[in-house]
Amino acid sequence: MSALFAILFYVATLLLVVGLLYRIRTYAGTPAPLKIPTTPAPTTTGGVVLRMTREVVFFESLFKANLWTWGLGWLFHASLVLVLLRHLRYFTEPVWGWVAFIQPFGIYAGITMLFGLCGLWARRLFVERIRYISTPSDHLMLLLLIAIAASGLMMQFVAHTDVIAVKGYFQGLMHLSVQPLPADAILVLHLLSVVILMAIFPVSKLLHAPGVFFSPTRNQKDDPREKRHIAAWAKQLESEN
Ligand code: HEM
Ligand code: HEM
Repeated sequence: MSALFAILFYVATLLLVVGLLYRIRTYAGTPAPLKIPTTPAPTTTGGVVLRMTREVVFFESLFKANLWTWGLGWLFHASLVLVLLRHLRYFTEPVWGWVAFIQPFGIYAGITMLFGLCGLWARRLFVERIRYISTPSDHLMLLLLIAIAASGLMMQFVAHTDVIAVKGYFQGLMHLSVQPLPADAILVLHLLSVVILMAIFPVSKLLHAPGVFFSPTRNQKDDPREKRHIAAWAKQLESEN
C-alpha cells in the first residue's frame, strides 16, 4: 500500500502542477476585448490591486450579495488556509517556528472548516433556488471536502494515527524513497480523498482560485475615457494595415 500511495501522490502532484500551469497559461493568453470592470471601479493600478486583495481576502462582492453565503463561504476558506498551513509540519524538517505556533489553531480550523462546508451543502440542498442551479459536481465537490475534513478530524479526536510515521512517509516521498505508511482505514480515506482533490483540481470549479485574478470585471481599471482600450488582436491588425 505504501508503494501504491507513492505512485498515486506522484501522479496527482504532476497532474496538479502541470494542469494548473496549463490553465494559468491559457487564462493569461485569453484576450479581453472589452473594457468591462464592474463599476464603481478603481481608476489606477494601485486601486485595482487593493480591490483584488479585498476580493480575495474578504470576498467583498459576495459580502454585498448574500450575507449567509458569505459567512459560511468565508469561514470555510479561511479555515482551509489555516488547516493547510498547519499541515506544513509534515513537509518541513525542522518545523518552522510559526508553523509550530499555529498548530492548536489549525485543529479548531478543522472544525470550523467542516461546519462551513456542511452549511454550504445545506444551502445547496434546502434553498430551492440554489438546489435548482446546483449540478452533481457542485454537490460532489462539497462532499469530497467534507470527507477530507471529517476524516482529518476523526484522526484528531477519535482514532489517532501515527503522525510521526505519516511525516516520515511524506519526507521519504520528497526524497524519492518509499517509507512504510500506517495502514489505518481513516488515514487511507483521508489521503485517497486528497489525491482525488489534487488530480481533479485543474479540471474542476476549484479553478476559481487562480481564475479570480484573471477576471476582467475585477482586474481592469476604469479608464476608458482617458485611454482607448484596444484588444491585443486588434492592435496586431492595426500594425498589419
Ligand atoms: C484565491 C483563492 C480563493 C478564493 C478567492 C475563493 C473564493 C470563493 C468564492 C467567492 C466562492 C463563492 C461562494 C458562493 O458564492 O457560493 C467560492 C466557492 C467555493 N470554493 Fe473557493 N476560493 C479560493 C480557493 C479555493 C480552494 C483552494 C478551494 C478548495 C480546495 C475552494 C473551494 C471552494 C468550493 C468547494 C466552493 C463552492 C462552495 C459551494 O458549493 O457553495 N476555494 N470560493
Ligand atoms: C498529503 C497531504 C496530507 C496529509 C499527509 C494529511 C495528513 C493528516 C493527518 C495525519 C491528520 C491528523 C492530524 C493529527 O491527528 O494530529 C490530518 C488532519 C486533517 N487534515 Fe489532512 N492531510 C493532508 C492533506 C489535507 C488537505 C489537502 C486538507 C484539506 C483540504 C486536509 C484537511 C485536514 C483536516 C481538516 C484535518 C483535521 C484538523 C487537523 O488536525 O488539522 N488534509 N491530516
